[in-house]
Amino acid sequence: MDVADRIDTAITQAIACAQAAPSPGKLASALHYTVTPGGARIRPTILMSVALACGDRNPGLANAAAAALELMHCASLVHDDLPCFDDADTRRGKPAVHRAFGEPLALLTGDSLIIMAFEVLAKAAMENPIAAVNLMQVLATRTGMPNGICAGQGWESEAEVDLSAYHRAKTGALFIAATQMGAAAAGEDAEPWEELGARIGEAFQVADDLRDALYDEDTLGKPVGQDDLHGRPNAVTELGIEGAIARMGEILTGAIASIPKCPGEARLAKLVTAQAEALTPIRFRAQQQAARGV
Ligand code: IPE
Ligand code: IPE
Ligand code: MG
Ligand code: MG
Repeated sequence: MDVADRIDTAITQAIACAQAAPSPGKLASALHYTVTPGGARIRPTILMSVALACGDRNPGLANAAAAALELMHCASLVHDDLPCFDDADTRRGKPAVHRAFGEPLALLTGDSLIIMAFEVLAKAAMENPIAAVNLMQVLATRTGMPNGICAGQGWESEAEVDLSAYHRAKTGALFIAATQMGAAAAGEDAEPWEELGARIGEAFQVADDLRDALYDEDTLGKPVGQDDLHGRPNAVTELGIEGAIARMGEILTGAIASIPKCPGEARLAKLVTAQAEALTPIRFRAQQQAARGV
């Protein structure tokens, strides 16, 4: 099975377990609706790439970790779209979960997916209990307070916001989880993988800010111009478009340099570069490559 199939199978199995009788039908449908069709699944793909680069010693645990991370990401999007946060009507080209199922079910969908993420890891723990506990620890750290997604969303309620602390918690945290969980799933120490995840996350956030400023809703499948609308700090208002492109280049050069020594190091470097290029709006790719000096 290739990486995409491994991720998809693990997610499908987790959702199917949650839908077993006697589950309430609407909530069961909302769970399926949220993860199908999936988004780009960039986080679990990075996780699997790191696990493979480290030897993929516990493949069942790597599959579980990838599913857990993507379920957590999907939960964060369902909550993020709620009226009390971004009040977004669309996500992945279709009505946001709260628009399709109503707010109470959207809240419960996010909650269920968060719990499911930890359940998936607990169920896979027999393969390597120590690695499984490490995975739960990393996922919790990068999801809650003070360094996880909750902290990131929390910054939006503060009067003074440090752009890099906000981005690191809101977006970077799950990319750090991706690289660290990939290493932990393979039985390796997660700590040396933090910097790579942080740098990929920072580049991803700058790319997302550029897409928010440059693209339309049909292309992105979600509302655009959101950063301006909510008066949120973002890389384009802070640095301008050219500056944001140059910033991406700098971050990526550092990302490649930060990859820890491992058997699959060269392949992983290629994959990080390819993912970064795919994220950059097409008309700026040449500029981005020039900024990286390639
Ligand atoms: C969107 O993430 C949320 C941000 C952190 C900007 P993605 O762009 O990875 O969303 P999907 O999963 O592909 O829809
Ligand atoms: C969403 O951030 C990231 C989460 C932590 C949920 P944004 O609100 O900036 O992303 P989009 O534009 O809705 O995907
Ligand atoms: Mg938001
Ligand atoms: Mg949003």
